[in-house]
Amino acid sequence: MTELANDRLLRALMRQPVERTPVWIMRQAGRYLPEYRAVRERAGSFLALCRTPELACEVTLQPLERFALDAAIVFSDILTVPAAMGMELVFTEGEGPSFPRPLRSAADVARLANPDPEEELRYVMETVRLVRGELAGKVPLIGFAGSPWTLATYMIEGGSSTHYRFSKGMMFADPALMHRLLEQLAENVCRYLNAQVRAGAQALMIFDTWGGVLGARDYEPFSLRYMARIVEGLEREMDGRRIPVILFTKGGGAWLERMAESGADALGLDWTVDIADARRRVGDRVALQGNLDPCTLYASAQRIRDEVGEVLAGFGHAPGHVFNLGHGIQPFVDPESVAVLVDAVHTLSAPYHQ
Ligand code: CP3
Repeated sequence: MTELANDRLLRALMRQPVERTPVWIMRQAGRYLPEYRAVRERAGSFLALCRTPELACEVTLQPLERFALDAAIVFSDILTVPAAMGMELVFTEGEGPSFPRPLRSAADVARLANPDPEEELRYVMETVRLVRGELAGKVPLIGFAGSPWTLATYMIEGGSSTHYRFSKGMMFADPALMHRLLEQLAENVCRYLNAQVRAGAQALMIFDTWGGVLGARDYEPFSLRYMARIVEGLEREMDGRRIPVILFTKGGGAWLERMAESGADALGLDWTVDIADARRRVGDRVALQGNLDPCTLYASAQRIRDEVGEVLAGFGHAPGHVFNLGHGIQPFVDPESVAVLVDAVHTLSAPYHQ
């Protein structure tokens, strides 16, 4: 395998020294880029784009052609796993994802399959292999999956939810059934992430987008425990290098100490957390990734630079920071603002690494 020309991301995730803070952006390949919209148009739909490795590879690389980003993230979606487990998945224009036949009973859960990632999710592995080849060691490639709890909420609700009527409903009314589902999801997610590592992913991220809606007593048993189980089952080394794992619970600010004990190398922070406070709380147990408010990108160039400076200063003088937004970039952002952000991170962070 080719040596990495830029391994700042991997070093920062392992809290090793870097000469400037690495930066990448959640959803960096997405609708804010006109060239992304053009390829999606060509593909016909978002799912067709995900399932065509050549096109998924092309859009994965698009943001790297524009900006000096320190990582690529494979273009796919967290919901490919439930789809491979046998659930029909539909993306409706303007409405997001839905499962027309959601899981509501023990019989529904019992029907779920345990796919072989190299078969049912072969298109993702092909994309990973293509992207690794095209990157030729320029920057590392991040693989990802959804957390069991987050996937379960989509599968049970049938789409995004505001009330969690059915998902939290199942959690309280039939916890044993919920645990069976989460356990099966954890096994499948673990196998899927390991397949991505074998295909060439050099770091992994688990997206727990809905973990933050859980109660204080429920986060550990229904979300964190299953993510820790996944981390435990991951292959942590490939070609002599450690594969770092990032765990991101949106809205998980209250539980950072517990997340730091999960076995993950790094925690993703949303923008509601003070990064200086987060660093004090987790100490040197894990690296931190984040956490600029995505809406900062609607401000002037100077205001973006100032806000980047605040996040960098908040983390302070130490290795172990990966700059990112606190959640995915929004579709209405001007790509020029992303250029300002990336440049500001690289320029303003150098003094923190001397
Ligand atoms: O970060 C990247 O560039 C990699 C690509 C990526 C996508 N989805 C592409 C995508 C990643 C890492 C995801 C993860 C994902 N998908 C999450 C967890 C992260 C988060 O945002 O909290 C979730 C909850 C999903 C499920 C999902 N996919 C939703 C709710 C939606 C609709 C919302 C929206 O933005 O339209 C999607 C669609 C989606 N996934 C798009 C992209 C680029 C937009 C689809 C389009 O082109 O129309």
